[in-house]
Amino acid sequence: MLAADGASLYTKCAGCHGSQGEKKALGKSKVINEMNQEDLITALNGYKDGSYGGAMKGLMRGQVSKLSVEDITAIAQHISKKGN
Ligand code: HEC
Repeated sequence: MLAADGASLYTKCAGCHGSQGEKKALGKSKVINEMNQEDLITALNGYKDGSYGGAMKGLMRGQVSKLSVEDITAIAQHISKKGN
């Protein structure tokens, strides 16, 4: 099996969060490239299990529901490298 590829997994996120994770998605989210890897993992797992998020968490739940633990780790690593 191929290792999870954070860069290609992130392509479907870029429309809202920006290619560098530099945008506030729909004017609502944090700038995600300013979050560290651990906080990104907490947020993405939290959207999956409903324990994290604001008014639009239902939207993000749909985005992450099919991602595995490995996928989430790879995406978080990819995004956190884009900031700074
Ligand atoms: C249709 C637009 C859209 C897409 C596509 C999308 N997001 Fe989001 N994202 C949002 C919005 C809106 C929020 C704020 C949700 C809330 O109210 O908690 C958010 C929140 C987040 C947060 C938490 C930031 C915070 O404000 O706490 C992370 C991390 C995140 N998204 C990552 C991703 C990743 C990774 C993907 C791709 C798998 C993705 N998003 C796809 C719109 C989107």
